[in-house]
Amino acid sequence: RQNPLVLGIETSCDETGIGIVRGSILLSNTIASSMDEHARYGGVVPEVAARAHLEELVPAIRAATAEAGIRLDEIDAVAVTCGPGLAGALMVGVGAAKALAISLGKPIYAVNHLVGHVGADVLRLDTDDTTEPLEYPTIALLVSGGHTSLLLVRDLVSDVELLGETIDDAAGEAFDKVARLLGLPYPGGPQIDRAALEGNPTAIRFPRGLSQTKDMEKHRYDFSFSGLKTSVARWVEQKRDAGEPVPVPDVAASFRESVVDILLTKAIAACVDLGVPRLLLGGGVIANARLRQVAQERTDAAGIALRIPPLSLCTDNGAMIAALGAQLIMAGHEPSSLEFGADSTLPV
Ligand code: KG4
Ligand code: ZN
Repeated sequence: RQNPLVLGIETSCDETGIGIVRGSILLSNTIASSMDEHARYGGVVPEVAARAHLEELVPAIRAATAEAGIRLDEIDAVAVTCGPGLAGALMVGVGAAKALAISLGKPIYAVNHLVGHVGADVLRLDTDDTTEPLEYPTIALLVSGGHTSLLLVRDLVSDVELLGETIDDAAGEAFDKVARLLGLPYPGGPQIDRAALEGNPTAIRFPRGLSQTKDMEKHRYDFSFSGLKTSVARWVEQKRDAGEPVPVPDVAASFRESVVDILLTKAIAACVDLGVPRLLLGGGVIANARLRQVAQERTDAAGIALRIPPLSLCTDNGAMIAALGAQLIMAGHEPSSLEFGADSTLPV
């Protein structure tokens, strides 16, 4: 079936995302975030996120159909994130998606959130957009507040393999924690990015987790950021104990440099090892200016084609879920049976 009209629902974390696509064409991408409510806790509170989804979903669906200029009963299918993510948050989206599918008599596609991030790349803003489709295989580096994963994508709808992931904190989480210990507000990523503008990235040499030879055998494509965070904490503590001022811009720039180096060293190693000359980036941490810059420099040097979807499609959103649903339909996949649940640790 060509160019199906699909409504996608994303509620795996704090964004209530509703997207509507026709095939690969983006018709609407409505996002309501409960970030403000989590800010005073310094991180996403699962139950607060779930309650916010319950309140935001119906208005978001209404806004999305209005923006797309369609009636709800015109859609061909519903796609929904069923994992991985926060269990309670996922359940709200899955429940709403099933209710919609049953009441409209339309098929439903339960999709994986991480694969959804890869699906973002197929979206085009209009039919005149001539950007070449993503070629396969490709390596995908997904970095957000909830995940840090490296995928080998041989085919978007049928063959995605997890190469590695974080063994402790997600990269965005590390940004948030380091921002907090520097006295910067949540979410910390943009704050560190801004503070780093005035800092020297080589001022302090922070460690690169899992890059030692002994780690590389078992954790070649895995990431670790908790040692880095502890190292920053200790450095800052020593300054404070000595009664010296903490050079926030230098700490921010040096920390950011370490995260960027860890992420790109592993991603490019995967491209080189596996002979895959394509790298796709996704997730909210892609907003980081230095990450995008170094990614461009290193992929250019290695002869790897770099793809970065627009930032509005890199952060969690419903359009990428709708896009993946549409790709599944166009590839002839059967819909999901209505018995599926939410799986917070769903593998790719
Ligand atoms: O994908 P995303 O919007 O959603 C969740 O994971 O919930 O990612 C949010 C994460 C937060 O941890 C935030 O601090 C981080 O992405 N982030 C950044 C930047 N902008 C957002 N990290 C580094 N640099 C940035 N400019
Ligand atoms: Zn995500």
